[in-house]
Amino acid sequence: MLKRSIDRCREILRYGRCLSGSGRIPKEKVDCVVIGAGVVGIAVARALALKGRQVLVLESASTFGTATSSRNSEVIHAGIYYPPNSFKVPLSFSSIVLTIRNHVRPELNVQAVFCIRGRQLLYQYCSEREIPHKQIGKLIVATSSSEIPKLNELMLRGTQNGVDGLRMMEGYEAMRVEPELLCEKALFSPVSGIVDSHSLMLSLVGEAESNGTIFSYNTTVVGGHLEENHISLYISESKNLETWNGNFPLHPELILIPKLVINSAGLSAVALAKRFRGLHGGLIPPAYYAHGCYFTLSKTKNPPFKHLIYPIPEVGGLGVHVTLDLDGQVKFGPDVEWIDGIDDMSSFLNKFDYSVCADRSESFYPEIRKYYPNLKDESLEPGYAGIRAKISSPRQAPGDFVIQGEETHGVPGLVNLFGIESPGLTSSMAIAEYVAEKYSS
Ligand SMILES: Cc1cc2nc3c(=O)[nH]c(=O)nc-3n(C[C@H](O)[C@H](O)[C@H](O)COP(=O)(O)OP(=O)(O)OC[C@H]3O[C@@H](n4cnc5c(N)ncnc54)[C@H](O)[C@@H]3O)c2cc1C
Ligand SMILES: *[C@@H]1O[C@H](CO)[C@@H](O)[C@H](O)[C@H]1NC(C)=O
Ligand SMILES: *[C@@H]1O[C@H](CO)[C@@H](O)[C@H](O)[C@H]1NC(C)=O
Repeated sequence: MLKRSIDRCREILRYGRCLSGSGRIPKEKVDCVVIGAGVVGIAVARALALKGRQVLVLESASTFGTATSSRNSEVIHAGIYYPPNSFKVPLSFSSIVLTIRNHVRPELNVQAVFCIRGRQLLYQYCSEREIPHKQIGKLIVATSSSEIPKLNELMLRGTQNGVDGLRMMEGYEAMRVEPELLCEKALFSPVSGIVDSHSLMLSLVGEAESNGTIFSYNTTVVGGHLEENHISLYISESKNLETWNGNFPLHPELILIPKLVINSAGLSAVALAKRFRGLHGGLIPPAYYAHGCYFTLSKTKNPPFKHLIYPIPEVGGLGVHVTLDLDGQVKFGPDVEWIDGIDDMSSFLNKFDYSVCADRSESFYPEIRKYYPNLKDESLEPGYAGIRAKISSPRQAPGDFVIQGEETHGVPGLVNLFGIESPGLTSSMAIAEYVAEKYSS
């Protein structure tokens, strides 16, 4: 239906009439629109489709999962790190959170809740569909005695969050399990793992489609407005934005009037929400971006580690850690470099700087050698980079996931997802379950 509208609009454009006045822009009523086909948007679309809703996914790129969902560590997180008592979503609203209250305590922040529920859903889903994944376990390591109190804190926090199986190991015990490792003490998390996120997304897209979801690629949402307390979305073909210089007014080629909109635009969710005319801007969090590079290990026949190895977390990230691919490739990363100066259109089109500067490896060697002293000179090769969708600055406490629906901003049928950084991949199916339960019943 949308494709037809866009095709029709293209026809009109060819004869120079479509943009001659906003009154002539075609309008379509639709049921649900999901903005962004990252892992979260896809999972939400599938969950809504399984509830019998008609779903349209609008994605500015030419296919799904090209942004943060294919630029991460692909780790299935246990749910250890996230602090209690800082949740920003009223948990009591959610029937799904009630169902998991048996497993976790109600005062927990939602990252912890979504991570733990998401992990369980993800393992189950991947097992049933034979999606490549492996529960390889993880060691968080203290490399000096001064780090041991922080490790104890993580043990306590993880246990409070309801993570099963956590266990402290003495250095010698951890080093027996992992002979290349050097550490004073380690926290072992048996439920951590890895997943092939592309296979996961492919499966979720397939199920959404077979339940009637339409994916419209090369399609950008450039803004919207509230009318009679409902939202209208402005849609443009992505290629028309490539040439937009920011000067002439940006006319949409199509206006969609959905019953339910999920803004799951990842790194640009905040910028997009600010372009919804009439939405109370004071509720929209600020956006911050933190770049992270990965380096891969060259010249190794066998990976040096069997488990994921993480140092004590740093500001803005979990520290330069060891991740293993399902095919045995070893990656180190990501580091943290805060970036700014990003304009809306480049963010909608995912035109971020994803380059990996080779010289950044210089800081990686000493970091990694704290726990992996045998790392050879010149063994790190530039891998890839990702950007974290942050809503708190380096000077603030880490942000929680923010899910704002009618109860927050008063607009029926509008749901904004902000700050879905790590553990967003792990949490994707739980976020989807929550959104579908709460906003579509
Ligand atoms: C370096 C790094 C490492 C990470 N490691 C892990 C990990 O190990 N485990 C874990 O659980 N999580 C991890 N995460 C977090 C996880 O990758 C993200 O939370 C998750 O991928 C977010 O998915 P998303 O769908 O919200 O966003 P995205 O994947 O970014 O998808 C958003 C989509 O919206 C589209 N879009 C944007 N603007 C518009 C618009 N205006 N109109 C139409 N479409 C638009 C984009 O093109 C994009 O496809 C990591 C993140 C980073 C950055
Ligand atoms: C999207 O745009 C790209 C580049 O302009 C093009 O190659 C591709 O065929 C388009 N895809 C769809 C589904 O329209
Ligand atoms: C969704 O699609 C699956 C096939 O992938 C099918 O078995 C199922 O019946 C569909 N569900 C609905 C609600 O249409």
